[in-house]
Amino acid sequence: MTATNILITGATGNIGAELAQQLAAQGIPFRAMVRKSDSKSNSLAALPGAEIVTADFTDPHSITRALKGIEKAFLLTNSSEQAEELQTNFVDTAIAAGVQHIVKLSQLHAAAGSPVRFLRYHAAVEEKIRLSGLQYTFLRPNLFMQGLLGFRDPIVKLNKFFAAVGDAAISIVDIRDIATVAAISLTAPGHTGQIYDITGPEALTHPQMAAYLSKALNRSITYIDVSPEEMRQALLQVGFPQWQADGLIEDYAHYARGEAAAVSTAIQDVTGKAPRDFQHFAKDYASLFM
Ligand SMILES: NC(=O)c1ccc[n+]([C@@H]2O[C@H](COP(=O)([O-])OP(=O)(O)OC[C@H]3O[C@@H](n4cnc5c(N)ncnc54)[C@H](OP(=O)(O)O)[C@@H]3O)[C@@H](O)[C@H]2O)c1
Repeated sequence: MTATNILITGATGNIGAELAQQLAAQGIPFRAMVRKSDSKSNSLAALPGAEIVTADFTDPHSITRALKGIEKAFLLTNSSEQAEELQTNFVDTAIAAGVQHIVKLSQLHAAAGSPVRFLRYHAAVEEKIRLSGLQYTFLRPNLFMQGLLGFRDPIVKLNKFFAAVGDAAISIVDIRDIATVAAISLTAPGHTGQIYDITGPEALTHPQMAAYLSKALNRSITYIDVSPEEMRQALLQVGFPQWQADGLIEDYAHYARGEAAAVSTAIQDVTGKAPRDFQHFAKDYASLFM
């Protein structure tokens, strides 16, 4: 086994945890950055080849420690009001620590002039990395299929889920495929300077997703279209900070305009395998909606 030269940030999250599992399954050692010791960090620590480091993006000294000896870093935070600052600070610390390559988890259509705040902050971090002289790979996924787990409660209790997206089609993508693209970008040659638009194999509307989910769960699940204001209030009620709730409303307005429907070939091109479709996702995750 070679020495660990890969750092995974966001390692307790959706994509980071999947990336850690995939590297472990291939016998590739990695360092996983966590904020605290809990069941998620314990699961990561139990993976073969895992080294755990405790660090927080808000504490540059802890990031310097986390990056000691690291050549390649996977950069991911959740989308918060602080995300741009935390990620750009991470880039400065990575340069000082001698990191060579950053694989950044961004979002499809990241652009400085976007009306969607998430797409603007991702674009700002991408620009910072691009100008830094570091090698980079930008992963720009579309809406995650696993995002449906955020609607788990109403699906389980009411057989319904709600959003402000109308009947717009979205080329939603499975996070397991995004993590595979990340793993390959971190470990195989030929991915520096690349920007991958990562989508699933087809664009689906929310009513179509509800129909596939109904089939997988063997009961009727209905998608209910709500107004952006109703969605905002629901997000605030379940505890989303204002900035994030407003960002999600902007994101869903972007989806509703049909701007996230295009299908890309990145997953097939990078991994050599077809992306998982929504039926596959619904079957694999059915037990979580029972
Ligand atoms: N959801 C979508 O459909 C979608 C689509 C395209 C792109 N994206 C992008 O995907 C990213 C989110 O990915 P995800 O769903 O895998 O994330 P996630 O599950 O929300 O996980 C976020 C990770 O960041 C860590 N983190 C947050 N603040 C931190 C801090 N101050 N110091 C250290 N670690 C910190 C969290 O650690 P803790 O466990 O300690 O909290 C967690 O491991 C966002 O950038 C978003 O824009 C999302």
